[in-house]
Formats: sequence, structure tokens, C-alpha cells
Amino acid sequence: MEVIQRNKLRMRKLAATNSNLSQQVETLDWDELETALMECIFKKDETGLPESYGPASYFPLIPENSEQKILYEQAFEHGESLVRAGKIAAFTVAGGQGTRLGYDGPKGTLAVSPINGKPLFQLFAEQILGMSEKHGVVIPWYVMCSPLNLEATVSHFTKRKFYGLGQNNLKFFAQGVMPATDFDGNLLLATEDSLALSPNGHGGSLKALIDSGSIADMETRGIEHVSYFQVDNPLVSPINPFFIGLHDLKKSDMSSRSITKTGPFEKLGNFVSIGDRLAIIEYSDLPNDKALEKDAQGRIKYRAGSPAIHLLRRDFIQQFASGEIKLPYHRAEKKVAHLNEAGKLIEPDNPNAVKFETFVFDALPLAKNPLILEADRLDQFSPVKNRTGVDSLESSQADQIKRAKRWLKNAGVAIRENAVVEICPRAFPDQKDLQNADWKRYDMQSDTLYLD
Ligand code: UTP
Repeated sequence: MEVIQRNKLRMRKLAATNSNLSQQVETLDWDELETALMECIFKKDETGLPESYGPASYFPLIPENSEQKILYEQAFEHGESLVRAGKIAAFTVAGGQGTRLGYDGPKGTLAVSPINGKPLFQLFAEQILGMSEKHGVVIPWYVMCSPLNLEATVSHFTKRKFYGLGQNNLKFFAQGVMPATDFDGNLLLATEDSLALSPNGHGGSLKALIDSGSIADMETRGIEHVSYFQVDNPLVSPINPFFIGLHDLKKSDMSSRSITKTGPFEKLGNFVSIGDRLAIIEYSDLPNDKALEKDAQGRIKYRAGSPAIHLLRRDFIQQFASGEIKLPYHRAEKKVAHLNEAGKLIEPDNPNAVKFETFVFDALPLAKNPLILEADRLDQFSPVKNRTGVDSLESSQADQIKRAKRWLKNAGVAIRENAVVEICPRAFPDQKDLQNADWKRYDMQSDTLYLD
């Protein structure tokens, strides 16, 4: 490919007197870059949409008939038995750059809980610990970072003594990076001695799990399923027995939770079926007429949106080891600071570059027996993406309080109407666990109520 040859020549010339750049240029996976350029720059006019597709069917949260009710009960029990048998690992993708939030540090270290200001990582750690204690089993936790935030993440956990999970049960590793190019495929320099590199998307997690030895480690531990969730969602249950049980009973390679979109254009991936395969079409790619289609009951047809919560069979991930099966690259147009021909730093006001990313949900069409299980949004999803407004720290804290109050209401407990409530996930990993709460320990008339 001409542009690859051109890039090689230019970069080797620039790297001749610079050892760091030279090392980057020599170790760069040029074949991978060529694939990314082909998929994202030289074929960019193709929509990438399948010729024919429809809304995906999903298991509704509330069973629709007695057969489904029995299946759900079985699924919950089966899931609990898999957790007890130590077959499940938790897996967080935390390699993103969090540019929208603009927080100085790994996103997982951001204080998010409404009363105690617990960081995202702490909330997940306490959930995992709570489930481990409840089921008398070790639940290992794998955390994918990027080369940019790995050290800061490990240092956070080290300072907090790994939140009591035991260092051996936690594994941190960095995902791969890809170089950014201009719109014609020319590599960009971030500094004189470095290419402009960025994490290769959450799809990079599958290869990174393999390359870091995490999959081998899981095999040694007897782990069968990997519970995948994003670092920015404090409401997610890292280990959800019902979901795990259904996924395993149905012999699914990869399963996903869905939530009902708030409207046709909510910025969530849309679950679709393509023949007997399941896939996600990004909100930006779903044509307007499709997004607006309604079913016989007047509901939006493409209402199943993705909160990015998945379960993957360990041996399904293993299939990505050889590189024969690969996830496609997506084109992300971003502002990337870079040196111009004269060596001057340019900080663009508008997108000037292409970043190449793969998405984990593109593994769905490759999965056998994939399934979707609906989730209650308030129980599972309120991400911290932005500084203000939708999906912000503020909205997520409000949802954390709302969910805690709902759990108390469901437990039949009265509290002050305007009370701020926080529930410790270690003490009460699930709302059912509130049944064992010793209410006398708490001042239920307080304005701030922390239940631990
Ligand atoms: P987002 O798509 O929200 O991206 O990631 P982001 O980088 O965190 O934030 P913005 O878009 O720059 O504001 C969703 C999840 O995928 C992880 C993130 O850490 C987050 O948990 N992710 C994203 C990775 O682990 N690696 C990546 O390369 C990209």
C-alpha cells in the first residue's frame, strides 16, 4: 500500500537520530495499520450497515409467561451455583481516556458515591468482596488499563491495600495502542520522539486479556465466564447471578444486558438481528427512519439499547488468540495535537485526525447462541461520561441516591423524603440482602443515611 510505504520512509528518516521514535517505528504493527487504514480511510464511503436487519429480540426483565418464570428461577439458582463454584471472573475496561469528563487521573479513581465519595474502583471492589463473602469464594478481578494510566491505577490500588481483595486476586494490564493519522492516512507525531498513540478501543480488551496472560490465569483458576463492565458505571452489578445463569443455561458464547432507550435517538448502541446473528449498530449509524419505526403496540422497534454489560465465555475469548478472527476498526475523528512539517506544535480547534478503535460488541456476531437480557436502567446503568448534564457525575449521583431509596422502599423501610442515602455494596451487594439488615443500627430519621 502506497501510503504505508510513504509513512515508513518518512518515519524512518525522522527516527534516524531518535532512539525512542526509532523503537516505536520498528515495533509498529504495519500490517495492522494497513488494515485500519483500509477499513477506515480508504473505504470510508461505505456505510458498513448490513443489507437487511431488524430489531433484536431479548429476554424481558419480567417474565412474560410461566415457562419463562421457571426458566428465570432456574437461571438465578444456576448462576449462584456457578459463582459459588468459582467459575466467574470480574473484568473492567478502564483504558479509555475519558476526554469528555476531563478528569486528571484514571476515571476509576474519581470519587462518585454521594455521601462517602467512594471512587468508582472502590464501589466495584466492595461489590466483588461482598459477593465473595456471601458465596464463600474468591472472585478474581481483571482490570484493563492503557499504557497511559496503568501506573496511576496500580498506585491507587496499592495505596488502598487493594481494597481488601488480596493482591493475588487482582490483575492489572495495559491494552494495545494504535497511531493516529491525518485524514489521508499520514502518521502524526505527538512530540519529536513519539508518534501520536492512543488506546485501541475497548475491543482491544479481548486480545489484551490473552496477551497479558489473564486468560491463561483464568484457566488455571477454573474460570469459565468473564463478566465485562465499563469503569464509568457505578450502578452495574459486577457479578450478577441471574444473568450468569441464563447465559450459561443457554450455552451462549457472549450475552448482553439491554435497557429500554429513553427515545429513538438516545446515544446508545442498538441491538439488531442479522439473520440468526446478533449485532449492535451504533446510534450514529442507525438511519432515522429505522430509529423511528414503531411496532404494533406503538413501542419503538429499536428500543433495546446497550449499557455495555456483557458476559463472555473464556474459551470464546481464546478464539481471538491466533489473530485469524478479528474485530473491525471504527473511525473516530478527533482533535489530536501534533507537530507540523516545520516541527511546530499544532493544537487544533476541530477534529483533524483519525483514531482507530475496535469495539467489544463487534464480537457478538461471532458468538454462538448469543442472548440479550433486559435490565432495569435504574438498577444497572448511570454512567459518568460528561462534566455536566446527561450521563454526568451529578446525574449519576442522583441515580445512586434514587436507587438506594427504591431499595429501601422495596424493603418496606420508611425514611425522610429528602434523605440522601448511600448503601455499602460490600454489606448489601444486592437489594435482596437488605432483608437481613439490622435496622436498629441506623438512624432512619437522619437526612444522610449510610447503610453499611
Ligand atoms: P468511552 O467510549 O466512554 O470512552 O469508553 P472514554 O475514553 O472512557 O471517554 P471519552 O469518550 O474519551 O470521553 C467506554 C468504556 O470503555 C473503556 C473506557 O475506559 C470505558 O470504561 N475503554 C475505552 C477502554 O478500556 N479502552 C479504550 O481504548 C476505550
